Amino acid sequence: MKIAIGNDHAAVELKFIIKEHLEAKGHEVLNVGANTTESVDYPAIGENVGRMVASGEAEIGVLICGTGVGISIAANKVKGVRACVCSEPYTAKLSKMHNNSNIIAFGARVVGSEMAKMIVDTWMETEYEGGRHQRRVDLLDAIEG
Ligand code: RB5
Repeated sequence: MKIAIGNDHAAVELKFIIKEHLEAKGHEVLNVGANTTESVDYPAIGENVGRMVASGEAEIGVLICGTGVGISIAANKVKGVRACVCSEPYTAKLSKMHNNSNIIAFGARVVGSEMAKMIVDTWMETEYEGGRHQRRVDLLDAIEG
C-alpha cells in the first residue's frame, strides 16, 4: 500500500519507528513530516497528508503529533478525509469498520511505540463494513458540501 505519513517535532522518533514498521511489511511510505525536532507548525503537515489521501496520491495516511489532535483537525478540513485520533486498537478498529477512516492519528506523548504499532496494524487489517454505515458516512460527506 502507498501510505502518507506526517508528523510534527513532537513525534519525529515515533514517526521513524512507524515508517520502518510499515516498510518492513512491504508498504511504500511517503514521509512528508518533520525529520528533526526543530519546532514546526502541524496544520500544514496535516493538510498535506489530507490532500494526498483525498487525491489518491496515497491510499491511506498516518498522522502523529504530541496528542494526535491538532494534526488530525487539520487533515479533517480537507474534503473527503476522515481522520480519527486513536489511543488504543479498539477505537482504531471501529473507526475503520463504522466510519471508514482513511487517516489514523495518535499522539507521541500519549502512546508508546508498541501501542502505536498495534493501533496501525489493527486499523490496516480491518475492513470497512459498509451497509448501514454507508448512509452515515454519506451524511458526513454531505456536511462538507
Ligand atoms: C506541539 O507542542 C503540540 O502542540 C502538537 O504536537 C500537538 O499535540 C497539537 O495538537
